[in-house]
Amino acid sequence: MTIAPVLPDGWRLVALQTVGSTNDEAARLAEEGAAEGTVVWAREQTGGRGRRGRHWASPVGNLYSSTILRPACSAPRAAELGFVAALAVADIVPEGREVRVKWPNDVLVDGGKVAGILPESSIDQDGRAEHVVLGIGVNVGFAPQLPEMRYPGAALGGTVEAALEKLAAALAGWMTRWRHDGFEAIRSAWLAKAGPLGMDVDVKLGEELVRGRFAGMDRDGALLLDTPAGPRKIVAGELLGRAA
Ligand code: BTN
Repeated sequence: MTIAPVLPDGWRLVALQTVGSTNDEAARLAEEGAAEGTVVWAREQTGGRGRRGRHWASPVGNLYSSTILRPACSAPRAAELGFVAALAVADIVPEGREVRVKWPNDVLVDGGKVAGILPESSIDQDGRAEHVVLGIGVNVGFAPQLPEMRYPGAALGGTVEAALEKLAAALAGWMTRWRHDGFEAIRSAWLAKAGPLGMDVDVKLGEELVRGRFAGMDRDGALLLDTPAGPRKIVAGELLGRAA
């Protein structure tokens, strides 16, 4: 028997069997006025999207969800919600497994990528976020291997319904924290789950590969790196870990 996921008070579930991308469906509903806490969930996606225009393989068995948020803030502040999402995913990892967040929005379990996060904001003429769609894909039943990543895949196990229920509760909790305590609370919780300062990392900036040591994340969410050429602040890129 399938148990329907229960969402936090005031949240609404839009459950679909198949959709192109839950992010696109959530954006469409947001444009029509859907409220914060509307969660679009699909059993499978035929056009799942990842970061940097990549495809996100989405057959039945893993979790594909997009949550509409209405944070009433500027575009740069809306970008903070990717870190909120990463902390929510980290919260649903079963005890006993090692969980790490990786800049900007990845979550690793026992060294493998367990989730992908795709925040997409609609910004008005005054630079304010009208809505944010927080797309989250979590490997529950199986772990696809991503050829472009240096990490293997990892999966949580359990049911997709249970994962969605826990994820929505965690997301609601971290959103409340973000609203009340601001990004500083999110940043310090995120840093506590990130790899140790000083670890060797590679960051892909377009075609450029920057090597350095992880030196934290600043108050705007930028990655701080100590490179042989001096400190660098990186606002957009992809942290790859160190291959060798
Ligand atoms: C990444 O590249 O790491 C981000 C992947 C995000 C995938 C999720 S699955 C639910 C939502 N709908 C999409 O089309 N993408 C996101």
